[in-house]
Amino acid sequence: MLSQALPRFPRLELVGAPTALEKLERLSALVGRDVYIKRDDTTTLAMGGNKVRKLEYLAADALAQGADTLVTAGALQSNHVRQTAALAAKLGLGCHALLENALGDTAGADYLGNGNRLLLDLFGTEVENVDNLDAADAQLLAAADRLRAAGKRPYVVPIGGSNALGALGYVRAGLELAKQIRASGLDFAAVVLASGSAGTHSGLALGLSEILPQLPVIGVTVSRPSATQVPKVQRLAEQTCQLLEVDLPEHFNVQLWDEYFGPRYGEPNAGTLAAIRCLASQEGLLLDPVYTGKAMAGLLDAIERGRLPEGPVIFLHTGGAPALFAYPQVWNK
Ligand SMILES: Cc1ncc(COP(=O)(O)O)c(C=O)c1O
Repeated sequence: MLSQALPRFPRLELVGAPTALEKLERLSALVGRDVYIKRDDTTTLAMGGNKVRKLEYLAADALAQGADTLVTAGALQSNHVRQTAALAAKLGLGCHALLENALGDTAGADYLGNGNRLLLDLFGTEVENVDNLDAADAQLLAAADRLRAAGKRPYVVPIGGSNALGALGYVRAGLELAKQIRASGLDFAAVVLASGSAGTHSGLALGLSEILPQLPVIGVTVSRPSATQVPKVQRLAEQTCQLLEVDLPEHFNVQLWDEYFGPRYGEPNAGTLAAIRCLASQEGLLLDPVYTGKAMAGLLDAIERGRLPEGPVIFLHTGGAPALFAYPQVWNK
């Protein structure tokens, strides 16, 4: 069983108590469906978010290996890099980050220097700008080699923290959420979340499947169509089960919606902005333009179109609000 295998893996306790599962009263009344939210945006480190859960396992491994520097990569506005850099600072480690400009020539000054990117400088991150991250794993290994040659002891954290070890953080979150669902006594129709580098989606679906095997866990893609995202989520779930030395649950199936990520990764569309405005104005809750705004747009559209089975739904809030400050111009269009 996943829950029995998980405690074998060392973990830094960063998340603390379970994050809240709460009802969004005004949104529920507005859309005519009970919408609950799992508040992983409130994890404690440096403005919160989902990556802290993965880093509990990855950073424990880095410390066990005697690393003195975390090496990672992402977009200029990566939340993952922000949280990795913050944790490195907290642990007294260095952080070396390969950053790509996901928006190219269309990036405004705030995308290049505000939001998450601004925070990296405060954490003392050593930033290396790269043209792209098309071969990210190889680029990270090469960066680690260079650091080693300079006398450092690097530990590579993959993009998004999404390898099997990182995904354990969301297996644990899935087990935590399953307990909260059980305690609520409610029969939920689905859990909806943003699906990017896939560790959150793979891990959460695995964790939930142990206790609630029939509950659909639907990822809203933020960067690629289902044809390429499904195998990514599936492969990582298989690798995570291998690491845990358990079988992939028989009923495990990856569910994705890929209609909401256009025009491309990192660029919000009209539905994204409407979803962000809706949650802000109805609930005082901040989503982000890259991940949770797109995922919430998917959930709201699905409710409107009757795309989900009957019953209350859960939205996993994975954080990301610092990126709002990287996109001030999108609100003037
Ligand atoms: C705010 C936010 N939500 C969701 C995700 C997606 O998580 P994953 O990369 O594990 O699919 C990310 C990843 O960077 C994120 O920053």
